[in-house]
Amino acid sequence: MRTIDDRSPDLVVLGENLDVTPTLPDGAFTVVYLDPPFNTGRKQRRHAVTAVQRDVGSPSTITGFRGRTYERVRGDLMRFDDRFEDYWSFLEPRLLEAWRLLADDGTLYLHLDYREAHYAKVLLDALFGRDAFLNEIIWAYDFGAKSRSRWPTKHDTILVYVKDPERYWFDSEAVDREPYMAPGLVTPEKRARGKLPTDVWWHTIVSPTGSEKTGYPTQKPEGVLRRMVQASSREGDWVLDSFAGSGTLGAVAHALGRRFVLVDHNPVAVDVMRRRLPGAAVEQQGTGA
Ligand SMILES: C[S@@+](CC[C@H](N)C(=O)[O-])C[C@H]1O[C@@H](n2cnc3c(N)ncnc32)[C@H](O)[C@@H]1O
Repeated sequence: MRTIDDRSPDLVVLGENLDVTPTLPDGAFTVVYLDPPFNTGRKQRRHAVTAVQRDVGSPSTITGFRGRTYERVRGDLMRFDDRFEDYWSFLEPRLLEAWRLLADDGTLYLHLDYREAHYAKVLLDALFGRDAFLNEIIWAYDFGAKSRSRWPTKHDTILVYVKDPERYWFDSEAVDREPYMAPGLVTPEKRARGKLPTDVWWHTIVSPTGSEKTGYPTQKPEGVLRRMVQASSREGDWVLDSFAGSGTLGAVAHALGRRFVLVDHNPVAVDVMRRRLPGAAVEQQGTGA
């Protein structure tokens, strides 16, 4: 078991997340952010099934915290849409790990797209409890090609669940403010201060020419993750991303005085993180190197 305390280094681990996270102690993280690959096609679904069979044996071994209620909801949803089953079977054990790793005052941010978000919401309510649900954040952007045959889809959904609805940490005053949509309707003082963000976050994607760009294809903007870390953790707290990609959560955490553990099984992602986060220790799961 790894130690996570004031003396531990920020950490990047190359490895399969379901192998790495069991080496981390219960309740160590105040924020867990997960941005898993989307359920975009058959090839990926095949991969997901393989991973689950290797990692946890049978998906039916997982019952969740809500016992029979969760099993019933899960069964109904899977019968309704079998395309979702492989994806959820992949995600479910990783979500249970995330829950175990969250501190009592911790918060899970699960970044999804419109294809999964609604099924995931129903399943997470059943798995973690509806009272643990805090928010559905819509990250809206306006970039790229636009469909002419339906409303162009230009948002992601981030589902937010807290470990304990009585104890979770949330500091709205610590969050970057944003301009009022109708600045003429508020006082100059309010205009200068900006408004608190709501659950709809307008934010550009990572600019293809900006300094933030790492070249990693699915990189998320720091401005979006910064809000999560500002609101849901304090300086010195630990945050975890086990689908870390280019390490955006680590970059934000470091800038805000938080500590981080980042995991990705792709060596290209770990190379990007090594460059982006030069102060972090880098290990390969299973070698300790
Ligand atoms: C959507 S990307 C994350 C992007 C990230 N939020 C950022 O800002 O760069 C998902 C990442 O999860 C990684 N991944 C997928 N399955 C994984 C697994 N089972 N274990 C570890 N990493 C995994 C992929 O390699 C990919 O880098």
